[in-house]
Amino acid sequence: MNGKWGTFITFEGGEGAGKTTVLSRLSELMKEQGIPFLITREPGGIEIAEKIRTIILDPLNTAMDSRTEALLYAAARRQHLVEKVIPALQQGIHVFCDRFIDSSLAYQGHARGLGIEHILSVNSFATEGKMPDRTFYLDIEPEKGLARIEANRGREVNRLDLEELSFHHRVREGYHLLADRFSDRIVVVDADRDIETVVNDIKGYLSLALKGFRE
Ligand code: TYD
Repeated sequence: MNGKWGTFITFEGGEGAGKTTVLSRLSELMKEQGIPFLITREPGGIEIAEKIRTIILDPLNTAMDSRTEALLYAAARRQHLVEKVIPALQQGIHVFCDRFIDSSLAYQGHARGLGIEHILSVNSFATEGKMPDRTFYLDIEPEKGLARIEANRGREVNRLDLEELSFHHRVREGYHLLADRFSDRIVVVDADRDIETVVNDIKGYLSLALKGFRE
């Protein structure tokens, strides 16, 4: 990637892994250091994609077919990428995105059983092959992640939270397959530790990935 572009960093993990908290801590650190960045999320991040998000995650949409779900995620991803992510990167702004293609590969590809290769091909069409420069996968046992959500009742409950435990185990298994396959890009972070320790680990990798970021 040419030096003027920002770095595209994604954060992945199962439910309750702590992505949101980690991102808010990293945001404070980036602000303190005066580094241009933006934080965004999937599905959503811009108006059209947020509208798609409400359809996908509506707990009342129990009839949603899994391929429909996969296509909606890819559609939301496409719009968010071209409308928000790429323009920011082009201006030299680093983009931190809460979930991206690996979520579809782990959730729809592996856990729903649609196949990682099929989901990769649908998503390659949506993204024209654009991949993150670095991905932090926050790894935690589903039982522990779900217990955190239970303890933090302020968070919205969505359609995927209502899945059985075995689904969340398959999601984790999917992420492990991806971490092996894309080992140059994906950093596995043990998320079953206190938040400061997790943030400190990621800070070390960020200082390597982002010019100017000090640990
Ligand atoms: P969200 O409330 O953002 O959950 P979290 O805080 O865990 O990120 O809901 C996003 C849900 O959508 C989450 O359960 C994961 C799921 N998802 C997919 O299944 N495929 C995808 O491609 C994306 C982006 C998310």
